Amino acid sequence: MDSTSTTDAPDIDGGGAPSGPAVDLFERARNHERAEIIAAAREHDMLPFFRLLEGPAGPVVQMEGRERVMLGSNNYLGLTGDDRVIAGARDALDKFGTALTGSRLLNGTIDIHTELEREIADWMGTGDAIVFTTGYQANLGALSALLEASDTVICDAGDHASLLDGIALSGAKVRPFRHGRLDKLETMLDRAQSDGGGVLVVVDGVYSMEGDIGDLPLIAELTKKYGARLMVDEAHGVGVLGERGAGACELLGIEDRVDLRMGTFSKSLASCGGFIAGDAEIIDFLRLHARSFLFTASAVPAAIGSALAAVKVAKTDEGKALMARVLANAEYLWTTLNDANVRVVDPGMELAEKYAIKPYTPIVPILVGEDWEAGLVWKELYDAGVYANVAMYPAVPRGGALLRTSVMATHEKAHLDQAIEAILKVAEAHPAMLRAG
Ligand SMILES: Cc1ncc(COP(=O)(O)O)c(C=O)c1O
Repeated sequence: MDSTSTTDAPDIDGGGAPSGPAVDLFERARNHERAEIIAAAREHDMLPFFRLLEGPAGPVVQMEGRERVMLGSNNYLGLTGDDRVIAGARDALDKFGTALTGSRLLNGTIDIHTELEREIADWMGTGDAIVFTTGYQANLGALSALLEASDTVICDAGDHASLLDGIALSGAKVRPFRHGRLDKLETMLDRAQSDGGGVLVVVDGVYSMEGDIGDLPLIAELTKKYGARLMVDEAHGVGVLGERGAGACELLGIEDRVDLRMGTFSKSLASCGGFIAGDAEIIDFLRLHARSFLFTASAVPAAIGSALAAVKVAKTDEGKALMARVLANAEYLWTTLNDANVRVVDPGMELAEKYAIKPYTPIVPILVGEDWEAGLVWKELYDAGVYANVAMYPAVPRGGALLRTSVMATHEKAHLDQAIEAILKVAEAHPAMLRAG
């Protein structure tokens, strides 16, 4: 007798035990498309994921028994080790304990939350801001609260997963366009006119894998022309781009034409958490309707305390100097690799020329192509003492695997030179990393 044939099994057809579902749900987890390759990579210590960090996320890290130049962190300003930011975390821990054990709505809001929200609104120049436990939840909550099934959302296919997930959760009609194809954005805006509901355009300010900045002035112009609303994810722009460090919208001078801006504390702001900034009425609506805000615990006090301290540092002249430094490091890394014929992704030279800006962001990806080769390149670099991230399908299109390097303000030229030397050596054995000719 098999285990489903017990006498307790519900007799749903009135004639003996149910036959059970057509497939075992867990089969998919046990025998998924990548199971074999992951097992082989694990066996040969080739898996680029879940590597153990054994100390602070500085420019050089201790990882699995040795020092490695860290080219895979989003700690863009290097503030995770800043005394003021650490003191912000410690003071909050001392005052409020380890956790708030409740939702922001009920027992999970403390004075540093409201101070942080005011600081962000002031920084972004918006009526208000709302702080979520993570940036992922900020996108999920905002999109699923604002959009209904009768609405249309138009998004760049390269948008971050948290935006795409928030869109899916909302049930709104989705009209995606190929990454950066703003002619298609206009087509979608035109089509959405007859969809019958509200229309929201959702884009990243800086794309997290390729590191390129979106053509936000054109996106804002088209959005306005068709009477739609615009939301920009500034996860990689806040604390890095623009005079005030308010992000790509500031850099490109379109802050007054963007309805909602999302940001995270998990990158330049050296903590964990996220925010949405916009008109006070809309933010207040989110406080009462964003389910990922209402039905989850508030961040731990130390995360809020460190984020607040980091925002305050970022807003000072010292913060601006750190932003200049991280961008100078990115320019140095990109230019040196590009001059050596390495296939660094174009950071957006055309856009830079069009708007007289510098195109660099802290993200300097190198195109490798095939997933398996990106894995080999990653391991050779790792063994040479350099840690970088790998982006494989589905994070990037098939055949578009990247070695995603990123820099910090606290990298010295010597760190970058050490990494460049290692990358060039690895590239000798992997011509896929080099431009032809
Ligand atoms: C573009 C973008 N948006 C949103 C997020 C989510 O932010 P968080 O790490 O705070 O959840 C990330 C983080 O990876 C991101 O890169």
